[in-house]
Amino acid sequence: MTPRNAKVEGPVWTRKDLLGIEGLAREEIELILDTAPQFVAVSQRESRIKKVPLLQGRLVVNWFHEPSTRTRTSFELAAKRLSADTLSMAAGSSTSESKGETLHDTLANIEAMHTDIIVIRHKCAGAPHMLAGRHKSHIINAGDGRHEHPTQALLDAFTMREHIRRLRQDPAATLDGVNVTLVGDIEHSRVARSNIHCLRALGAKVTLCGPRTLIPMDVARLGVRITHDLRDALEGADVVYALRIQLERQGAGLFPSLREYIRLFRIDSASLAHAPADALVMHPGPINRDVELSTEVADGARSVILEQVSNGVAIRMAVMHLLANSGR
Ligand code: NCD
Repeated sequence: MTPRNAKVEGPVWTRKDLLGIEGLAREEIELILDTAPQFVAVSQRESRIKKVPLLQGRLVVNWFHEPSTRTRTSFELAAKRLSADTLSMAAGSSTSESKGETLHDTLANIEAMHTDIIVIRHKCAGAPHMLAGRHKSHIINAGDGRHEHPTQALLDAFTMREHIRRLRQDPAATLDGVNVTLVGDIEHSRVARSNIHCLRALGAKVTLCGPRTLIPMDVARLGVRITHDLRDALEGADVVYALRIQLERQGAGLFPSLREYIRLFRIDSASLAHAPADALVMHPGPINRDVELSTEVADGARSVILEQVSNGVAIRMAVMHLLANSGR
């Protein structure tokens, strides 16, 4: 029997920063996923204050150098629900960056005002890693170029796991053996890269589907199945995850035409008929409606896209709490 006051030892978080999913151990990913449900409950409080004091008195700075709606508001809300002070720092033409100040110098000056967590999105892959090595604030990567978007992968895995648990009526079900199909622009997608690392670490089977020009040549080494046939990709899928066609990151001519892409790769009622009836439909947003995903499917009964968004706040609360309260 365990003595009443004995401390139950569980996994602990030891990293200073969250820079990517690649290299995280399964236990670290599961620790984040297992920390999130208490924060889902905080956001769902109806009559009480939707806040906990875990980051009271700390300063969280959102520093976004690329457009963002969901991720930026989600981090800001997560910080506020943990009772932190938050600051949204503009980037680009309205700041000293336009006068030639380096990222390091800007951050050193911001840090002189005693920051605790810096959430950064940047068009250059590796920018958060470069800062993390030289600055003492906790750095969270909110998307670096085409490289990684770790909190998106975590909120996606959390959403999948919740649904699998509900479907199987097993509160301890894992993603082991679950079939996840990612469809679309894998090449330019940091969401895809982080999801592949996360899902493989959690034991899921990952299939990638898209035009040959949008699937990187070396991705098979990550232990994924690749197909260019949507029907083949959807058969047996527990989760169908559509990715946005990243027109802003593409050169010309990666597929013959948008019409051709839609014909071969769009997730709509007709193509989804090849997937099992209870397959989930997911998308990281923003959606190019009727390009990668038809409106009736995006808004349909199998879509959990808005649940992904709700879960995003809880996952980001979990990440910030673990970094600031138990990490280095
Ligand atoms: C994604 C991003 O910016 O990487 N969006 C998001 O953060 N939810 C996906 C995208 O832009 O396609």
